[in-house]
Amino acid sequence: MMQIDVLTLFPEMFNGVLGESILKRAQEKKLVRIKVRDLRDWTHDKRRTVDDKPFGGGPGMVIKPEPIFEACDGLRKKKTQVLLVTPQGRPWTQPLAQELARQKRLLLICGRYEGFDERVRSLADMEISIGDYVLTGGEIPAMVIIDSVVRLVPGVLGEKDSLAFESFSAHLLEYPHYTRPRRYRGMEVPEVLLSGDHDKIMQWRRQQARQRTMERRRDLWEKYLTAPAADEHNARQTKRSARRNAKIKG
Ligand code: ADE
Repeated sequence: MMQIDVLTLFPEMFNGVLGESILKRAQEKKLVRIKVRDLRDWTHDKRRTVDDKPFGGGPGMVIKPEPIFEACDGLRKKKTQVLLVTPQGRPWTQPLAQELARQKRLLLICGRYEGFDERVRSLADMEISIGDYVLTGGEIPAMVIIDSVVRLVPGVLGEKDSLAFESFSAHLLEYPHYTRPRRYRGMEVPEVLLSGDHDKIMQWRRQQARQRTMERRRDLWEKYLTAPAADEHNARQTKRSARRNAKIKG
């Protein structure tokens, strides 16, 4: 079973996200064990101090090295990947999520305030940012990372959710989805989806995914064009998905 440890100053923040839906079920099914740890448990003074003023002066506080080093000493096993969650890290992407979903153990360390004492960086196997914007701490990014990794762990999603067909893996956005009713507030479901012609449906979805990507995400579209293997892969997956959908169509 995959084990994920999180080191944070605000463990309560994780309760909602880890206690509902797919992440909750993944833990119940023993596909992943997630332990959220309070950094203050590794302090030794009465006030459980985790931060201090920066050397050299300046505003804000800096997270002290000792509690993080000691927590790491205790939590890190041989196969643990230590991940530092900060705005200065490597940008979080689906391929990176896939890479981490294959690991045995992850330890995510969440920053706060002005950041960590620089020496904490020596502990990390990887530093991750979830995007070019600044949050008040690493907790929400850690939740983003956990969510996107755990859903890739085999068995977490039902077999109907084809992971392989995911658009970001193939550099394409998803095609549009519809369910009943056929007509809602004057808006019709595209005729082709009602046709029962699975090859035609597949072609339509593929064309929609491509058009959408081209219009909305030029950057992904360029990548898609320069990865010809992905095109073939995507075509195969679309076919599979169309067949599956045909079975569950009511
Ligand atoms: N901490 C604050 N902002 C962050 C971000 N965008 N990614 C990761 N950690 C952060």
